[in-house]
Amino acid sequence: MIEFENVIKEFHHKGKKMTALQNVSLKIEKGDIYGVIGYSGAGKSTLLRMVNALEVPTAGRVLVNGKELGALKTLELSQVKKNIGMIFQHFNLLESKTVFENVALPLVLNKVDKATIKQKVKELLEFVGLADKENSYPRQLSGGQKQRVGIARALVTNPQILLCDEATSALDPKTTVSILELLKRINKELKITILIVTHEMEVIRKICNKVAVMEKGHVIEAGDVIDVFGHPKQMTTIEFVKTVIHDEIPPSVLEELKREKRNKRIYQLKFFGKNTTKPLLSTLSKEFAVDLNIVFANVTELQGTTLGIFTVAFYGEDLELERLYQYIVENEIAVKEVMA
Ligand SMILES: Nc1ncnc2c1ncn2[C@@H]1O[C@H](COP(=O)(O)OP(=O)(O)OP(=O)(O)O)[C@@H](O)[C@H]1O
Ligand SMILES: [Mg+2]
Repeated sequence: MIEFENVIKEFHHKGKKMTALQNVSLKIEKGDIYGVIGYSGAGKSTLLRMVNALEVPTAGRVLVNGKELGALKTLELSQVKKNIGMIFQHFNLLESKTVFENVALPLVLNKVDKATIKQKVKELLEFVGLADKENSYPRQLSGGQKQRVGIARALVTNPQILLCDEATSALDPKTTVSILELLKRINKELKITILIVTHEMEVIRKICNKVAVMEKGHVIEAGDVIDVFGHPKQMTTIEFVKTVIHDEIPPSVLEELKREKRNKRIYQLKFFGKNTTKPLLSTLSKEFAVDLNIVFANVTELQGTTLGIFTVAFYGEDLELERLYQYIVENEIAVKEVMA
């Protein structure tokens, strides 16, 4: 649905060249809620703004529904852009216009007749939960309500794609959750593909099925959220994953384990995908001559399944512990030795 092919973007500012995107290739499929995460200046907004031609690549191609934006004539490009809605961190509402007028604006600009506008705006205000606010002004609304107006305005032209630039970054955690739930409904009920850029891993965890991690203009890691969260490879990805999944044993617990004299090995085991429903720990305690003790655990909900990270101390003879380790590996459970 959206494809970036070897996209490079350079900015020239006061005689200096700045490369914001360095050879980015990504594919967003219809129906995805695709998250792009990265620190400030990574190039996220620049990437997003290319989808509706607010930025033009220096090299490479951006395709929307199979059409290369750079090759389109003005009229064709405006047709493609009509299919794309966008929401912003600071909502970008017109302060002098009512909620109804803000939402109606794209239709007024498209010269749609009044009766259709009225029907469409009312339908969308109902959808975003603001039916009683149509005559209010933005200053009379909370941040969450303003973002709902922004969302209604973005949807009023029936787009197939919704672009979200830090849509929840100005909101408190509770309001963030309610806006993310609304975005999820938009994806499911209205079948709109969503591309969302953020620096909050919680946003990715809550609603995205795919994620790309950006650093200094590069996409350093991309894939299904469950895979990237389960096996982060790059340092930046590991840092982002840590912000939502706490898997490090507290030092005090480690100290205590070190003091303990019994022969043992401590493994961190990750369960996700098909492994979440297997009774591995009970099998291990039955099949091997070992005692086990769960010393630390974290279970996170992801994509309607769970990612469980358990740190387990196994006590027993070396040979038996080695056999147990082989068994875990053979069962395709990700395992890492925590302390020798
Ligand atoms: N119009 C512009 N002119 C010059 N440089 C720009 C322009 N737009 C972006 N840049 C530069 O490109 C780089 C990427 O910017 P971009 O806004 O895409 O980052 P970002 O990942 O969205 O960051 P943030 O999380 O702070 O929003 C930055 O170094 C920025 O200064
Ligand atoms: Mg940005």
